[in-house]
Amino acid sequence: QSLLAPAGQLAGKRVVVTAGGTREPIDPVRFIGNRSSGKMGIAIAAAAAAAGARVTLITGQVSVPLPTSPLVTNVRVETTEDLLGAVQDSFAAADALVMAAAVADYRPQNVANQKVKKRAGQAKWQLDLTETTDILKTVARHKRPGQLVVGFAAETQQLLANAQRKLEEKGADLIVANSVAGSRGAFGSEENQVTLLQTGRQPEQWPRMKKTAVAAKLVETLAEKMKSGD
Ligand code: CTP
Ligand code: CA
Repeated sequence: QSLLAPAGQLAGKRVVVTAGGTREPIDPVRFIGNRSSGKMGIAIAAAAAAAGARVTLITGQVSVPLPTSPLVTNVRVETTEDLLGAVQDSFAAADALVMAAAVADYRPQNVANQKVKKRAGQAKWQLDLTETTDILKTVARHKRPGQLVVGFAAETQQLLANAQRKLEEKGADLIVANSVAGSRGAFGSEENQVTLLQTGRQPEQWPRMKKTAVAAKLVETLAEKMKSGD
């Protein structure tokens, strides 16, 4: 290792982090979006860089500044399809992927070329939506031995049961479950209370803390998993 190589638990590792919300266009002026601020994913990217990793941070819509570390490469995307492409481009060379982005599950089936006009007497507008690709599931299916795939589970009810099902169905190594219900939910907040789920282990409930602290603890967990190779 050269003297200039970064030190830290993730030195020499490559980590891909997604953050923020996707936007699915309806027409040139409208989209379907969500309440994600991007804070959690951005904090994870910053923590991974602070631990010495080279980070590709892929962001959709975010409401906080992006990290400026020289170890972080920022990639901007809009739609789920863009995000899928950017994740696939960067995951091949990565040691870990953290999907903190709030990804649209459905997108408008047809995107209008022109602004859809309000019409007199038209009291309803029905929009047909079609399923998007599950990025986490798709990427986890093709992961190489040693690559770690981390997902989030955003729930408003039955947090543990729903998150456990996501762990199994998506083929993730780790799921970070958080509540997005009500005023103490994760969306937009500076803090988060998460539960970590891993295959073959009991769920681990972490105390409510700053998102930056959750990020640091998650990066530590990833570093340990990489070291033990499990
Ligand atoms: N995710 C993804 N691609 C999608 C939807 C979600 O990669 N099209 C990822 C998210 O980034 C997150 C994880 O899957 O890491 C779980 O997302 P979540 O919305 O909690 O779960 P879903 O599987 O989409 O199920 P639901 O929204 O019905 O709870
Ligand atoms: Ca979803």
